[in-house]
Amino acid sequence: MVASHDVVLVGGGGAGLRAAIAIAEANPRLSVAVVSKVYPMRSHTVSAEGGAAGVIRADDSLDEHCYDTISGGDWLSDQDAVEAFVKEAPEELLRLEHWGCPWSREPDGRIGVRPFGGMKKMRTWYAADKTGFHMLHALFQTSLKYRAVARYDEWFVTKLLVDDGRVQGVVAIELRSGRIQPILAKATILCTGGCGRVFPFTTNATIKTGDGMALAYRAGAPLKDMEFMQYHPTGLPFTGILITEAARAEGGWLLNKDGYRYLQDYDLGKPTPKPVLRSMELGPRDRLSQVFVKEMEKGRTIDTPYGPVVNLDLRHLGERVINTKLPFVRELCLKYQNIDPIKEMIPVRPVVHYMMGGVHTDIHGATPLPGLYAAGEVACVSINGANRLGSNSLPELLVFGARAGRAAAEYASSQKEPGPAVVAQAEDERRRLVHDLLQRTDGRERIATVRDAMQKTMEESAGIYRSGPGLAKAADRLGELEEQARRIGLDDHSRTFNTELVTALELQFMVEVARTMVGSALKREESRGAHQRIDFPKRDDQRFLAHSLCRRAADGSCRIEYLPVTITRWPPGERVYGR
Ligand code: FUM
Repeated sequence: MVASHDVVLVGGGGAGLRAAIAIAEANPRLSVAVVSKVYPMRSHTVSAEGGAAGVIRADDSLDEHCYDTISGGDWLSDQDAVEAFVKEAPEELLRLEHWGCPWSREPDGRIGVRPFGGMKKMRTWYAADKTGFHMLHALFQTSLKYRAVARYDEWFVTKLLVDDGRVQGVVAIELRSGRIQPILAKATILCTGGCGRVFPFTTNATIKTGDGMALAYRAGAPLKDMEFMQYHPTGLPFTGILITEAARAEGGWLLNKDGYRYLQDYDLGKPTPKPVLRSMELGPRDRLSQVFVKEMEKGRTIDTPYGPVVNLDLRHLGERVINTKLPFVRELCLKYQNIDPIKEMIPVRPVVHYMMGGVHTDIHGATPLPGLYAAGEVACVSINGANRLGSNSLPELLVFGARAGRAAAEYASSQKEPGPAVVAQAEDERRRLVHDLLQRTDGRERIATVRDAMQKTMEESAGIYRSGPGLAKAADRLGELEEQARRIGLDDHSRTFNTELVTALELQFMVEVARTMVGSALKREESRGAHQRIDFPKRDDQRFLAHSLCRRAADGSCRIEYLPVTITRWPPGERVYGR
């Protein structure tokens, strides 16, 4: 069977659904396919907690949101993209309210906003601490009204089809039946989210395995700024479940083993009765995660079976604030940690959370490969530079999901139908999947063994602090692991919901993505934002005020080149917090 649409979207989370709606609105005659490996409401957007940034108050300005984003990103953000993002974010958030998103309110009826890390003004809209859940619901229910949007729920994409220099659709497995078939399209948009699962300890759902990044990379599109992976300072030990930054925005404290607010020792301000913007617990995530390591080195963290932790103390906020503003934090602590934050402190540690890098796109979501677009965490536009500010990713997926949808709609309207060459390619891919995985009997490598080794390698070499020798060793190790991942043996040779097959394919994607992360980190001999090299501790604008672009070489290694950062109005400066 061959399915055919005008635009195919890979991923049914926030970016994918926003793009689908944008296409349907731009040109109702276009047929749109949303292909998602999970039912759309199970996409990772659903788990976003703290909120979405957009200027709305009279004391705030677009320029201030731009500046916070650019300085937070350690000047690696493209400023034209940031300006477009900041301008369109409030419009998108309001539109979402019209589609049914129940933003929390102030007592006087205005949209409620809370402070967030690294932001100078209160501009983070929220729906209690279940913002992603409500946003995804609003997008999903809105997408249902467009008849042109067809859904392929629980279909797993294995390959992009490229012929004549342009992307012309995908090959996908229908998980229910195991059928492998092409879904052809004039334009393809990747909205598959990030790749946190290449690390062992992450807030990311098990589905976040870098699929879109690997698909694009294999098809010839470059990956940008892959060395920049964000740690969130407050994850639950063991599970890695996110305890939202909103807990600190509402006034939570971070305490070391002596009950001391240790952030005051690290140029992040002094304790005050009320939270102060860009200060202490409201500093940026990269700094807070790095400070945790310093505290650990001083022996001032608390040892647990799941690694060292500090405490997040919310007790002084009181039951009413916790129940109204942070109900999900309480629920998560009760269910997964067996503690009640009204009465007890929450043990937390930094946890891999968000990928700043991704598929290289322009500000319309277009990649250098004609017919291929990307939006959301899978893409690197780049607004987040070397360190994303909390609450910028939800509006990012709206603004750039919509932009990518409109651009893909326009492109698709002028393209001819995909040709027979891609159908033949799809048949080759089907044979590969059957021969190399499903029917293979001599595969000796185990998925879990290779995955554990990959995650350990990443944790040890590409974590909060890195070094040249450590990264070089990791690059070699990942090369070996990639070989091993090709020789996986499956126990399950059946077709119906073969989750082992999917897991093997995800592992191959992850190892490939991990190699680009380590390769890019090795080449960047400076420290900037979330990329901290102990052997190059300073930012080096002379050499590295530039995006890394990683292309796949014929031997599978990654070839790095650099692209200048777009500076419009904010020349590089010092990042100052706590003052
Ligand atoms: O802490 C949080 O709620 C996370 C928000 C974000 O990553 O934007």
